[in-house]
Amino acid sequence: MVRVQAWAKINLGLKVLYKRPDGYHELRTLFQTITLADEIGFVWSPGRRTRIELDDGGLGVGDNLMVRAADAMLAATGARGHLKMTLRKRIPMGAGLGGGSADAAAVLNWGRSLIRPGREVDLPGIALGLGADVPFFLLGGTALGLGRGEELYGLPDLPNAHLVVAMPRGVHVSTPAAFRALAREPLNSPLPSAKLEKFQALARSVAACRPVSEWKSYCENDFEAAVFLQVPVLQDIKDMLDRSGALCARMTGSGAALFGVFPTREKAGQAAKRLAGLAQVWPATLVSRRRYQAAWRRWTAGVTGNALR
Ligand code: C5P
Repeated sequence: MVRVQAWAKINLGLKVLYKRPDGYHELRTLFQTITLADEIGFVWSPGRRTRIELDDGGLGVGDNLMVRAADAMLAATGARGHLKMTLRKRIPMGAGLGGGSADAAAVLNWGRSLIRPGREVDLPGIALGLGADVPFFLLGGTALGLGRGEELYGLPDLPNAHLVVAMPRGVHVSTPAAFRALAREPLNSPLPSAKLEKFQALARSVAACRPVSEWKSYCENDFEAAVFLQVPVLQDIKDMLDRSGALCARMTGSGAALFGVFPTREKAGQAAKRLAGLAQVWPATLVSRRRYQAAWRRWTAGVTGNALR
């Protein structure tokens, strides 16, 4: 069994510029992988017939993205056999932490080893077909995302930081619902230059590995106002993170999780304790691209395609 961690992401900044003719929204975002993770196991036995199984511990998510990812990956590589996957969910759903996308991308990252030399497999294309956040998890670390989030530019690894991720119990925000809520707010004109200026300042600072104190005022999430109106406790959690000494406290993705960046593990621990009555909390640190990619190389080193032709 190959065991891997499907690390979650946060959006250090997220700007929604406008609705495009294809119905999607044009985004500018800054992704970051963090240590909160689902645990996934793969057992692969090459054979004549293809069979894909998923044991998700009784979660019962219909139309599971992992199965679709495995289907697409085996079809693209031409590999045939029995793939048994187990999923132990730790990343909360409806949180904006990219849990489902991370799991789907884990299948693709695992399946890279099945690609025979010389065979062209459009991994980013397969990833985007599964969801807008999936391509980022092929890369990991800190990255700028443009378009639907699929046009990615890897940035240098940030210095590590202590995070507290918090989410109110029993609250889930669906991404389409969050976009609809945003649509009820007046979106800026097709060239929202003020938004872009702030985002550019954030990208410049993070690309130069400047400390959080220098870019905290630029890391905004455009969903906050609309989603906080629907789920007011999110504002209380954000205020509590701020009062607990967070260098920066923001919602991730379209919510409902928030994160606070703290200067020390102790401060993060104290904040987590204070928040425990209001929300579920998870301590976390950043996962750099160097660590992300080294881990994937390690986990999949023994996976041989043995793909039947
Ligand atoms: O791609 P994903 O499945 O994550 O997107 C879920 C939904 O969120 C889409 O169907 C769409 O309604 C909305 N969305 C959007 N613009 C984006 C990403 C997602 O409108 N850039």
